This record gives sequence, C-alpha cells and structure tokens, in this order.
Amino acid sequence: MKIGKIDIEHGLVLAPMESITDLPFRLICKRMGAELVYTEFIASEALIRDVERSKRKMNIVDEERPVAVQIFGDKTESMVSSAKMIEDSGADIVDINFGCWVKKVVNNNAGAAFLKCPEKMADMVRAIVDSVSIPVTAKTRLGWDSNSFVIVETAQMLEQAGVLALAVHCRTRAMGMSGAADWSWIPKVKEKVKIPIILNGDVNTPVDAKKAFDTTQCDAVMIARAAIGNPFIFKSMKEYLVTGKLIQISVMQRIETCLEHLKLSMDYKGERKGILEFRKNYSGYLKGLFDSASVRQKLVLSESYDEIRGILMNYYQFLEESDRLT
Ligand SMILES: Cc1cc2nc3c(=O)[nH]c(=O)nc-3n(C[C@H](O)[C@H](O)[C@H](O)COP(=O)(O)O)c2cc1C
Repeated sequence: MKIGKIDIEHGLVLAPMESITDLPFRLICKRMGAELVYTEFIASEALIRDVERSKRKMNIVDEERPVAVQIFGDKTESMVSSAKMIEDSGADIVDINFGCWVKKVVNNNAGAAFLKCPEKMADMVRAIVDSVSIPVTAKTRLGWDSNSFVIVETAQMLEQAGVLALAVHCRTRAMGMSGAADWSWIPKVKEKVKIPIILNGDVNTPVDAKKAFDTTQCDAVMIARAAIGNPFIFKSMKEYLVTGKLIQISVMQRIETCLEHLKLSMDYKGERKGILEFRKNYSGYLKGLFDSASVRQKLVLSESYDEIRGILMNYYQFLEESDRLT
C-alpha cells in the first residue's frame, strides 16, 4: 500500500489508541514489525491552546517513521490550525478521527458524530487538505447505527475531498467496541474507491490478518487491542503472510521485550514517570503465564529497573524449573 509516497510493504498498521500508543509503545511496535504507527488522538482545541500534554502527544522520533498524528475536533478552523502544527512538527501523515464513539467526544460533535453528516466530514477534510502538504488520511466507522451504514458513500466523498487513505473500523458508532466487526463492507468500499482502505476491527491473530487480506481485498490491516502487551503480533503476522508459518514467541522473548519497552518508557519519560506509567503493560506481557498475577503485584510496587528485571528473571527461572514455560 502507498499513502502518497509512503510505502507500507505488508500493510501492517498499529492503530491509534488513547493512553496506549505513546512514543515508547509506538517504538516497540515498530521494532517488532509495525509498518505504520499512529499517535493517540489529540484534541485540536487543546493543541491550538498550547496545552502541554496535548503538544507532547505529537512528539515523534525518526526511528518510528512513518508516523501518523491523529487529531479530532468539530471546528474546521481549529482542525486546520492543528494540522498545520502537526505538519510543522515533522509528522509524515495527519489523520482525522471521525470514529471516536465516546460520549464526551460525540456530544461535542466530533469523532463519530460526523457519521450523521458525511458531507461535513468531506468539507473538513477539504479544508485540511488545502492547508497542508503532507498526506491527509481519515479513520471512521461503518455508520452511526444499524439503520445508517454510510461507509460506501462516505469513502467516496472523502476520496474526492483528498484523503490519501481511509481506515475503517468495521463497527457502527452504536456498537461502541462490542459485537463482531463486520468486514463485509470493505469489498463494497473497495469497489467504489481507488484510495487504500485499511481494515480495522477484530484483527487479532496472524490468521485473522491473512483472512482479512484474502477475503476483503483491503490494502492494510490495523491492529489495536491485540497489540497491547503483545507487540510481537506484527512480527508474527508478517511471518505468516510471507511464509505461511506461525511463529512461537518464547517466554524469554516476552520478558526481554517487556524490559526493552520499559527502558524506552524511562528514556522518553524520565525514570520515575517511565516506570509508573509502564505498570499498565505488565499484565499484557505476562498474560496466560502461570501465577502471573502475583508477579504483577510485585512488579507494580517496584520503583527501579534493576528490581523489575530481577523479579522477571527470577520468575523466568521459576517457570523453567517447574516446567511451566509453555
Ligand atoms: C484503549 C483504546 C483507546 C483508543 N483510542 C483511539 C484513538 O485515540 N483514536 C482512534 O481513532 N481510535 C481509538 N481507539 C479505537 C481503535 O483504534 C480501534 O478502532 C478499535 O479498538 C478496534 O480495533 P481492534 O479490534 O483491533 O481493537 C481506541 C481503542 C482502545 C481500546
């Protein structure tokens, strides 16, 4: 898939996730094979008011490129100003969120609220496309609810307005995050537009990714929840798509990757904050391992890298000696 001049070879994309896809998480996913990464969404109103926390979200580094910085908001003027700030900050792509379903966003006429009036989406996109020279992309859903599947018309309008790729979360706004993603809309969209379509929703395993490519002709798959505590998913997907082989990730690889991710968190956030904010990641990295809950309890109380490393290495030794590594 190509987004403008940006080549995404196997179509493996890390989704935007608020409070998850910060710089350390994007970097670890990139190192594990993600080919395009998205920042957390950023409120355009906060960005233009110079709110420090929002501005920090658009900090990017060369190693993670190509990176898409995502914004949301209801006011075209603020969105245009934010898009310009994002371009100036060196992002490769500016992505517009037309899919967020949470009340706080929708009640402010942003995110998925635009699904009620796709023409407004297209107008906003046009204004942003006219104002920046980096590629503009969008992410949206199938429609507002099961009475309004507007994705095919919306994709056509957005293509005409100038987006260079569209990510489709295959649920309606009314579904939120529940129910199964309905991929059957992707071929219908593909029939009507030429821009790359990125399929999102329930792509959780290498087999899912292959099925998505084979059955929908999507140009890329976008992975969100399945990457949390599991950045290897990109490596496994790539291997399966290229060779048909399913690779096993060893417990030691999980531990080493967890520690590498922790180091990144400390490097970019400072030691204390890096360790504190990393706590949410342990359960993902240790998921399914014997008695991991008690290890996690120790990890979340730890305040130094060496202590954390020691706990994880002791745990590994325990698993090995008790024959519980698989
Ligand atoms: C914790 C969390 C935060 C999210 N934040 C964003 C966001 O900032 N922007 C966005 O477009 N979607 C966001 N999403 C939605 C995901 O990008 C994705 O569309 C959704 O999780 C479905 O994909 P999945 O089945 O692979 O999880 C978020 C999802 C989760 C679980």
